[in-house]
Amino acid sequence: MIFNKEINCSASVAFWNYWDQEHLEHIHDGYEKFQIIYEDKDLIFSVREVILPLIRLKITTPIFMKQLDKNNLIAFGIIFGVLSETKVFINDIGHDKCSIKVIYKFYLNGWKKLLRPLLKYLTKKWFQKVWEEDFVLKTRRQKVLKYNFKDFVGLPKKINDRINNDEYILKLPLARPKNSLAPLIKIKREDIEFKN
Ligand SMILES: [Fe+2]
Repeated sequence: MIFNKEINCSASVAFWNYWDQEHLEHIHDGYEKFQIIYEDKDLIFSVREVILPLIRLKITTPIFMKQLDKNNLIAFGIIFGVLSETKVFINDIGHDKCSIKVIYKFYLNGWKKLLRPLLKYLTKKWFQKVWEEDFVLKTRRQKVLKYNFKDFVGLPKKINDRINNDEYILKLPLARPKNSLAPLIKIKREDIEFKN
């Protein structure tokens, strides 16, 4: 399944939205008990409880997400025991505008092929819902970055300083608030030691 969209924000801002884990529970109805198991510079492994749209069924799914390069992100999850793959391509198409292409793929075999129509239906509903909920986050961030907004600092006090035409560059991992709603619960990269 392929979805194509355009939005008035840069590709970096659109990708920021994927990496901003804190908004999930606040903005998206249906995300619960979100926990990050492992996080590295450009990848995250998390477990989340998701309430599926319409049928309101609660499922627990692991999500692996990695930024492959400036314009590509890939994610994997498991729903009803079916492996799902999500590829996200985002490209700038002019000044503070980008195109977003999302390709969903479900690896179905045996009896699981029966789930195809349901998964297709749910994916379409899910994508549209999440798109609408995220829309304002992306356009608003683009706007405040132009006003020289800095994360964890805010807007400059002086009105004259509220201008910034620099290109926003996504830096991963994103800085996290101390009391994040998306806590890293298990291991951080620096916790790993390889011993003989
Ligand atoms: Fe979102």
